[in-house]
Amino acid sequence: MFNAPQPRSRLYTTWQAYAKGLQAVMFGYKHDGVSIVKLEQTLESIAPEYHAVAVPMARVGIYLALKHLIRPGQKVILSPYTITDVVNMVLCAGGVPVFADIEEGGSYNINANKVEELLNSENDVGAVLVTHFYGLICNIEPIINACKQRGIPVIEDAAQAFGATLDGKPAGTLADVGIYSFGLLKTVTSFLGGAVLTKDRELADSIRKDLQQWPLTPRKSLLKKIFAGITLDTATMPFVFDAAVYWMFRYALLHDRKFFKNKLDTDSNPVSFATFPAKYATRMSSVQAEIIFPQFANYEADTKARIAKAKIYNDGLADLPGIVIPPLRMDGSHLYLYYSIQAEDRDALARFMTERLRDVQISHHRNCAGLPCFSEFYRDCPNAEKAAQRVIYLPLYPNYKESQVAANIEAIRAYYLGSD
Ligand SMILES: Cc1ncc(COP(=O)(O)O)c(C=O)c1O
Repeated sequence: MFNAPQPRSRLYTTWQAYAKGLQAVMFGYKHDGVSIVKLEQTLESIAPEYHAVAVPMARVGIYLALKHLIRPGQKVILSPYTITDVVNMVLCAGGVPVFADIEEGGSYNINANKVEELLNSENDVGAVLVTHFYGLICNIEPIINACKQRGIPVIEDAAQAFGATLDGKPAGTLADVGIYSFGLLKTVTSFLGGAVLTKDRELADSIRKDLQQWPLTPRKSLLKKIFAGITLDTATMPFVFDAAVYWMFRYALLHDRKFFKNKLDTDSNPVSFATFPAKYATRMSSVQAEIIFPQFANYEADTKARIAKAKIYNDGLADLPGIVIPPLRMDGSHLYLYYSIQAEDRDALARFMTERLRDVQISHHRNCAGLPCFSEFYRDCPNAEKAAQRVIYLPLYPNYKESQVAANIEAIRAYYLGSD
């Protein structure tokens, strides 16, 4: 109608999922636990040597795993380029975060050499927590080898990487413990949810025991997420987006109105805490597992669709000297949750693209090693700092049209090369 672009992102939710979730919220959970067992068995079928335990959120899985794996006061080496609650879960579990910078370039993942340096220089390291950021499996082999020699467990934060594989092995099943998120913004979603995978039966049993003491995820929490999902899905429906939403966000970006940007940010007000929040102490319900089952049929095709679009971005942007692009992986080891690029002048680039009727998102991820709330654990992490200042997400969700990808590429090329 008004020629708005396709929106920067779309959720992977379905109307059936909303209907199921709302029905449960309105008429009460019928939690017999059977569907949770089925969900855990489905995950175990993907990774036969592993035990799977459903958790209310990935961050809770990180907390529970760490709580059982480390002693209070032990150090946990982790990437600073993550959400603040991951760091908070380390603190809640009694750990001391030690940040190892990310790699230079477009991977956004922890630098294995830095991890090894820290393993050599720090005493009493209880665990290494690696993250497969934006769905790219990190350089995990040298980290596993270095940790094995020292008897230190490696935990994979695969919250953003469910479905990525390394030589056919799923992310989350490459080390001692893997954590998935089924949160609202993920490619497989139950609005809230996650899972821990581990080969260690004792650890799985201990986590189960903790969970058994907690109530089901409150209906109110689920309802809040369902409404957030409905709001986002409605706002990004083609007609609504074209008729109003795009133009509001465009105005906000071009006129530097922070209100809209803050609305989209997670972690807009980062804080640290070392007491596990009571609101996180819940269990995933059967209905949430049931919401996930139909999505298991789609995620592989969705991943292939994103990878195909990543290739188009790669081919269109690889020769530009001004930006850093992610590595091109066609083998499934990167599922491209977003196509993240780094531009030194990202605000100017985003503005230029917006003027040309594009819709892209400035990243909200931070360098936790440099945040005032974690100043006690400060480390100089220049690559994470650079990423926090420079990343823009280019859309590539499954229904995002190739013509839109081409228009984004054209706008970026015009910005750097001055051509049309
Ligand atoms: C890298 C990473 N780790 C952990 C989490 C936490 O996931 P959840 O919201 O399921 O706790 C997220 C959520 O976005 C994430 O991006």
